[in-house]
Amino acid sequence: MLVAPSILSADFGKLNVEIKDICKCGADKLHIDVMDGHFVPNLTFGPAVIKSVAKISTKPLDIHLMVQNNTFFVDLFAPLKPKYISFHIEEEKHPHRLLQKIRDLGIKPAIVLNPSTPPESVEFLLDNLDMVLLMSVNPGFGGQKFIPSVLEKAKRLKDLLLRKNSKALIEVDGGVNDKNVLDLKNAGVDIVVAGSYVFGSSDYKKAIESLKV
Ligand code: DX5
Ligand code: ZN
Repeated sequence: MLVAPSILSADFGKLNVEIKDICKCGADKLHIDVMDGHFVPNLTFGPAVIKSVAKISTKPLDIHLMVQNNTFFVDLFAPLKPKYISFHIEEEKHPHRLLQKIRDLGIKPAIVLNPSTPPESVEFLLDNLDMVLLMSVNPGFGGQKFIPSVLEKAKRLKDLLLRKNSKALIEVDGGVNDKNVLDLKNAGVDIVVAGSYVFGSSDYKKAIESLKV
């Protein structure tokens, strides 16, 4: 299992120290939650903050857009050269076109599905994406409770990927901890995002290791 700590749960008062620490403690990439106060009822980081994070980070960035105007934000963050940009299918009229645009910018494109969005909704997008991110909480906040129906959804998505010969990775985001990570692994998940579980622990290294099942 690959682990992407979400910096949403970091201590923003000492963000540079937090980024350095988490990179040293076994993070595979850094998950960055961009919220616009419209698609979700919360606001997080803009390009100035993420630019500083990108400078300090020794790990690739995984940008998760939770916004209304995806194309505007893709253009805003593309110059920071993140490894992935993912956007919510529920908020995009032209997902196929936007995936292609992200790929043309040299970034790996990914789609995010809310807890109630079926995995089959990505079926005709598989040729154009590198990752599907399944939300296991309703987007907007860290520290929420894991929604277990994501396990069945991940299995159905994994079957679909195998049937269609897709190499896309499956990432799960929300309420992940050492109690549910093995079930996620068994359901076919490749990457977990973890915010409060990792940053809320006193030993980041141990917390990340406990997720690498
Ligand atoms: C929620 C965000 C998550 C969040 C996860 O909208 O997308 O990435 O930071 O935090 P935890 O692991 O605390 O649920
Ligand atoms: Zn996220």
